[in-house]
Amino acid sequence: MDFIDLKTQQKLIRNNIDERISNVLNHGQYIQGPEIKELENELSIFSKSKFVLCCSSGTDALLLGLIALGLKPGEAVIVPSFTFASTAEAVCMLGGIPFFSDVKLDTFNICEKSISNCIQKAKKSGISIKGIITVGLFGQPSDMNKIKEVADANKLWVFDDAAQSFGAVYNNNISGNLCEISATSFFPAKPLGCYGDGGALFTNNENFFNIAYSCHLHGMGSDKYKYERIGLNGRLDTIQAAILLEKLKIFESELIERNKIAGNYKKAFKRLNTNIKLPEIIPNTKSSWAQFTIQLPESCNRNELQVRMKDKNIPTAIYYPIPIHCQTPYKDFPISSDNLKNTNVLSNNVISLPMHPYLTAKNIEYITQTLHDIINY
Ligand SMILES: Cc1ncc(COP(=O)(O)O)c(C=O)c1O
Repeated sequence: MDFIDLKTQQKLIRNNIDERISNVLNHGQYIQGPEIKELENELSIFSKSKFVLCCSSGTDALLLGLIALGLKPGEAVIVPSFTFASTAEAVCMLGGIPFFSDVKLDTFNICEKSISNCIQKAKKSGISIKGIITVGLFGQPSDMNKIKEVADANKLWVFDDAAQSFGAVYNNNISGNLCEISATSFFPAKPLGCYGDGGALFTNNENFFNIAYSCHLHGMGSDKYKYERIGLNGRLDTIQAAILLEKLKIFESELIERNKIAGNYKKAFKRLNTNIKLPEIIPNTKSSWAQFTIQLPESCNRNELQVRMKDKNIPTAIYYPIPIHCQTPYKDFPISSDNLKNTNVLSNNVISLPMHPYLTAKNIEYITQTLHDIINY
């Protein structure tokens, strides 16, 4: 069994992808070819975000977004610690200070009370906080209304790291368009992934878009070799855009399947009455279910469980075993006054199960029954 099955999806759309790649080989515009604009337009229609910039990775989309927001060295950004490294890394790359906040136990997402604790602590220690990066962990968007309330009261911007949650829905808006600016990743294992590295930046703010656009081309101005800013090589390859155009066509139906599968997982675990905590989705929200992540009881030995699941041909993964604020390069950055209790608990008890749109009812029955049996006997 695969943790994420990209082969079945490829079989479905292989002919179309071959044709798209063949078109790129024929026109030969491997850099900034017409497929880039076409994809940006399609992503803009899908997300209802006015401006979309395709770029080289989710990490570079975060970096370009922070450049557009004007983050300066020494300025702080509140980020969750229970996330992938890029969220904090992009802040550090600009000389900024990641200020680590706790997350909620039920949703895995950044907690507004912990954000307020960060703000109070920063005021006392003279740290200047400029914004908040939310992360739609495992596919569920953060509770943006609550976060915006705290952000507005403290004149902070909100930047959504939707690397895992692109395509999710919050109060009838698509993730990618829930705040001033959002980033996503097209890493192959993401809900919308390409066949290499890729990412995109979304905003309704033309000024942010113009800065990010220039910076993803080395800070280019009106002339190709006249630079207005210091930037980077942040372009998406044309071939990846061509692949994504075909993948985007089936993305919506795949999101429906992911939601059905998550529902079936939950039903099966409830029926078995397994002693685990299931992922919770907040009202008026639809996750993109990048991962199906459960919390194990304290009594369960997670390493041993993983080995025994593997023996039964069920791959599992731990996202994330060590919170970012505990990692060597990040351990001297400030953390919320609540000491990130929930983050520490989650890093010890989470486990992610296979999740992709082509998981069958039989697969789910086998996974849930096997996990139940291992935990109980
Ligand atoms: C939450 C989060 N942010 C950022 C990224 C970075 O994306 P990429 O690998 O495309 O640079 C990832 C990818 O794993 C992620 O999960």
